[in-house]
Amino acid sequence: MTAPLDREHVTAPLKHIRKPLPHDSAIKHVSGTATYIDDIVEPVGTLHVVPGWARHAVRGRLLSVELNAVRATPGVVAVLTSGDVPGTNDCSSAFGDDPVLAEEEIFFFGQVVFAVVAESREIARKAALKAKIKVAPITPILTPEDADHADTTVLPDYQFRRGSPETGLQASENVLSGSMFIGGQEHFYLEGQVAMAIPQEDGGMFVHSSTQHPTEIQHTVAKVLGVPDAAITAEIRRMGGGFGGKESQANQWAALAALAARKTGRTCKMRLDRDDDMIMTGKRHDFKVNWQVGHDASGRIRATDLEFLARCGYSADLSLGVNDRTMFHADSSYFYPDTLIRSRRLRTDTCSNTAFRGFGGPQGMLAAERMIDAIAIHLGKDPLEIRKLNFYDGERNVTPYGMPVEEYEVMHDLISRLEVGSDYWVRREEVTAFNAANAVLKKGIALTPVKFGISFTLKHLNQAGALVHLYTDGSVHLNHGGTEMGQGLYQKVAQVVAEEFGVTMDKVIITATNTSKVPNTGPTAASSGTDLNAMAAKIAAKEIKTRLVTFLCEQHQCGEEAIHFGDNKVLIGDKSFPLSEIAKQAHVGRIQMSHAGFYATPGITWDRDSVSGRPFYYFAFGGACSEVTIDTMTGEMTVDRVDILHDVGHSLNPAIDIGQIEGGFVQGMGWLTTEELVWDEEGRLRTHAPSTYKIPTASDLPADFNVQLYESTGNPEDTVYRSKAVGEPPVMLANSVFCAITDAVASLIPGEVPNLNAPATPEAIMKAVQDMRRRKVPS
Ligand code: MTE
Ligand code: MOS
Repeated sequence: MTAPLDREHVTAPLKHIRKPLPHDSAIKHVSGTATYIDDIVEPVGTLHVVPGWARHAVRGRLLSVELNAVRATPGVVAVLTSGDVPGTNDCSSAFGDDPVLAEEEIFFFGQVVFAVVAESREIARKAALKAKIKVAPITPILTPEDADHADTTVLPDYQFRRGSPETGLQASENVLSGSMFIGGQEHFYLEGQVAMAIPQEDGGMFVHSSTQHPTEIQHTVAKVLGVPDAAITAEIRRMGGGFGGKESQANQWAALAALAARKTGRTCKMRLDRDDDMIMTGKRHDFKVNWQVGHDASGRIRATDLEFLARCGYSADLSLGVNDRTMFHADSSYFYPDTLIRSRRLRTDTCSNTAFRGFGGPQGMLAAERMIDAIAIHLGKDPLEIRKLNFYDGERNVTPYGMPVEEYEVMHDLISRLEVGSDYWVRREEVTAFNAANAVLKKGIALTPVKFGISFTLKHLNQAGALVHLYTDGSVHLNHGGTEMGQGLYQKVAQVVAEEFGVTMDKVIITATNTSKVPNTGPTAASSGTDLNAMAAKIAAKEIKTRLVTFLCEQHQCGEEAIHFGDNKVLIGDKSFPLSEIAKQAHVGRIQMSHAGFYATPGITWDRDSVSGRPFYYFAFGGACSEVTIDTMTGEMTVDRVDILHDVGHSLNPAIDIGQIEGGFVQGMGWLTTEELVWDEEGRLRTHAPSTYKIPTASDLPADFNVQLYESTGNPEDTVYRSKAVGEPPVMLANSVFCAITDAVASLIPGEVPNLNAPATPEAIMKAVQDMRRRKVPS
């Protein structure tokens, strides 16, 4: 027994929640001591797997694959082809259309035809080049437009329709239309795709995989090897970034490592070379968007007709969910009385596009902002005025898919605070004055909103499990189904568990995500990692605590209200005991101190077939005001100032949340300004290394960058400490940069909508400027 504890102290609300605690691995990240898969000590005899492919083929039938020279290379232990797959040759997440190793046909530039297993990566890489592959070429379909004309799709078309956009457009005072191209994006995670498979007894396999979805790694490996799921364990402690690129696209490399391990009986590691990674894995979907908007003289939208033509690549992958999310966000924050939102999921002979932070949402929203900009430019009004005029409000608050925007007041309040905080109107005048005074340099400014739906639109994914143990020394073992990719999920969940047990953070030991601890998990995606896993972990911790309380009430003949947990101690009446002592007593009293918590998000009723119900538990909101300068002689652009106000409800950890907002914004800015994917006419990706593909660097940060959390009244009661998801929504804050560039180009000729496509690289800006100049009628 120890000294009595200050009761105030114990019951004081929230010791770990809302604290800007560092990421659990921050020091390990910066000191190089965080263990990534390639850092795990290799078991003796580990072999290395390298993919082999037809380096000149795009689409075509395989005529012959000559591998004798590969096999004969000293140090090569095995060469795998599709014939070596004992189970099913497929690594897709759902649709069965992603061969691990090509069979009769190559569908895109970079498709894996064979895999070399050798004593070292260098040997395997050199040997792979000795293959002779003959292909009978088929003319590839590359662009969304070509796929649309050829009518090749990976999934059926889908649409939202409300009212009659046809009559709505006819009844409008003015109708504007246009089309724009929105480019894709390479994930460029710092740690590339990697997996290491260690053979177990009786055909089982332990797989370390850099994946956002360990359960899918387990399923895929089991399916490919033809063994039960239970024979496979997948584990991941952390990824060096995922960004959606390891949601489904980690499967193939884990499957190949496992196949090699099965064939050789030795541990096999597959770590993709960066160029191979960029060529072989899917990216953010690029889109051709055709739009029509009818509006009145004030700029209020009467009707819209939007068509999204997506380049999905050769297979379906996650294109269903991604394109649905594009449609769910094609309204941005604006009410469309009559509307048609059409989506075509087009099949092209390119890598299979996949999840990328925002999951299609950013592309949908950017199309909406283009329509708003067009209305403003046409009417000679400020785009912000048109944005606000079309915001959801008390009466006009139902989205095209039927879900009401209940928190429209948050959106209005946040935007008006940002409008004041960023000094928008004063700076608008300054921009106008600057443009009048400068012939070559032109400035632009834009303030754009973010409204992002939180929940998986595939209902069953909105569940999570956690496994929590309390040990007799008072330490807590924490495990859950969510994966850590740098976003701070592990830290946030640990804070929630420490809070629940009333222990200090050092008592909560975070452990790697492992399919044998928490089974049947969904991917860590849709920004819902914390919402789901922290809830499951909280439920688990609470259950253990409840058992301790019941035990203590019996032991001490007291009521529950007499018992409090805090500071690694338990207060019973006015006596205080270390938690370790209580845990020991409970153990002796034969109380179970382990629990598997489970959580399923309530209130989600979306039914895709009938296009009805509620897809999202809630919305996350945000706003950004960006100011840019462009050089109309060179197309160069600088982002001069950015002000962000973002809604995370009541933050669980403001330091991590602000990090997510900054990082998400900069990643979005890269997508919209410098990151350009180029396929040549034959369908070969030409931008497959940092030399040709430019992600933002420190020097690309806005000169003046202000990020603040919106002072929220909190998310609904039944969310984790009333916090909101933060992982993806900030990407779309970067739409303000694109709109500011549009604004700068538009300043060249009043009334003309710039023909600016995304990304707005210097080349694209230059083209848009020249196009404007061509339109100029000499007065
Ligand atoms: N932040 C970092 N540092 N690294 C990442 O890979 N992925 C993003 C986002 N933030 C990512 C990140 C994506 S695509 C998603 S869906 C969420 O984090 C996933 O984590 P969460 O659900 O825990 O927010
Ligand atoms: Mo994030 S694109 O949902 O992995």
